[in-house]
Amino acid sequence: MWTRKDLQHLIKDKMGDYLFIVVSNREPYVHVLKKGKVEWQRGAGGVITALDPVMQACNGLWVAFGSGEADRKVADNKGKLKVPPDNQSYTLKRVWFTKEEEKGYYYGYSNEALWPLCHMAFQRPIFREEDWPYYVKVNEKFAKAVIEEVGDRKAFVWVQDYHLCLLPKFLKEMAPNQLVVAHFWHIPWPNYEAFRICPQKKQILEGLLANDLLGFHIRSHCENFLDAVDREIESKINRERFSVTRKGHETLIRPYPISVDFDGINEISKTSEISKAKHILVEEFGLAGYKVMLGIDRIDYTKGIPERLRAIDRLFDEHPELKEKAIFLQMGVLSRIHIPRYKALNDEINAMVEEINWKHSTDNWQPVIMVRRHLTFFELIALYQICDLCIVSSLHDGMNLVAKEFLSSRSDEKGVLILSKFTGAARELSEAVFINPYDPEQFSEGIYSALKLSDKEIKKRMVKIRHVVQQNNIFRWAGKILSELLKFEFKE
Ligand code: G6P
Repeated sequence: MWTRKDLQHLIKDKMGDYLFIVVSNREPYVHVLKKGKVEWQRGAGGVITALDPVMQACNGLWVAFGSGEADRKVADNKGKLKVPPDNQSYTLKRVWFTKEEEKGYYYGYSNEALWPLCHMAFQRPIFREEDWPYYVKVNEKFAKAVIEEVGDRKAFVWVQDYHLCLLPKFLKEMAPNQLVVAHFWHIPWPNYEAFRICPQKKQILEGLLANDLLGFHIRSHCENFLDAVDREIESKINRERFSVTRKGHETLIRPYPISVDFDGINEISKTSEISKAKHILVEEFGLAGYKVMLGIDRIDYTKGIPERLRAIDRLFDEHPELKEKAIFLQMGVLSRIHIPRYKALNDEINAMVEEINWKHSTDNWQPVIMVRRHLTFFELIALYQICDLCIVSSLHDGMNLVAKEFLSSRSDEKGVLILSKFTGAARELSEAVFINPYDPEQFSEGIYSALKLSDKEIKKRMVKIRHVVQQNNIFRWAGKILSELLKFEFKE
């Protein structure tokens, strides 16, 4: 089993004097202003969940967009500061955007074009002509920020996700002999029929083929990527080696299922801080004595939140005996709210919660509690422990780390994971109760059957499924990618 120490050794023994740089759009720590005071929060989403423990283990440099209103106040003149703020172990370098860049590159091309293009959630991508130049410009800006740090040294650069498709190409053009570059794609890669509508498909593929190593969560995303290259780009594809050679440069394509720091979360879950946080949360939301069904998500149309609410509604229709006995708690982190589709989703969720509560509630009970607030890491783990069921109902998801965080938090070996078949996680976590979020009947019966499982059966499943996450942990994911990366030699 890979541990934090194994990863540290790998980096210490093999990385030598080379720099190790991670680049992503989202930053791991955001500084905000609260009542005029500077405070910090952990950034939201799967990339941060996965990479923060890796960076803490290997103290490299992380380059990301400085998105917090108080970010500049705590960074030096190169945008740098030590993080985590309460346990400084690596360096964050913040890149600053103008409002126009944020609009065109982040809200526009990344999240209204590429995000819906890659997720099969039946949301039409919007390719605005004016967004693309900002996407190009910001990718170049990230490249300059990396090169500023590299100087005349050599570096391993690890790029994250769909915001930065062009970064590898810019980097290789700016410093051809100094860099080995890997890229991890955290979301699904769609099949060719879906991908071919993208007007900038060639540039996207060419950008990604400048990488030495390109990783996806699962093999079918790798295959979809190879299909797209096959149809669009003059290159040699080696299906045995799983690689693409274009203009004399080879890119290896590999599946690496991402995960969480199982042992770290498991240990924290046993502490007295968590017991205290549980007490406070049970009190705050009035959960004592109820079967608690939990959803924790960024408010995003790929997460299947309206579908989940429909299933809950149906559950109380079909099984009224559950009234006053069970509660569904949905925690939502607001995200990308300047995009109209996200705002509409938020409104739709509010209306549904109101409707369901109006329909089913009694004098002293209401079926759904919807909370939108930032959770601390302790609160997050405490909530995972409070619930009887954790419901993950994504319409399409590269992996889904909420599922794995939930399992890592259950050191008591209780609780059931309800998991959408359309997540990458479904391939590994075979002891979950699987649902199809598009099928309200099957979904709500899935929840019902999970509520009826015996304690013995729950424990049996939990022990098995936790073992899978413990083995396939985040250090294994990073260790496998970095071991492959470290085999590359710098050009002379
Ligand atoms: C997904 C993406 C990440 C992104 C996260 C949060 O997990 O793969 O790259 O950071 O969502 O989204 P946001 O737009 O808030 O960064």
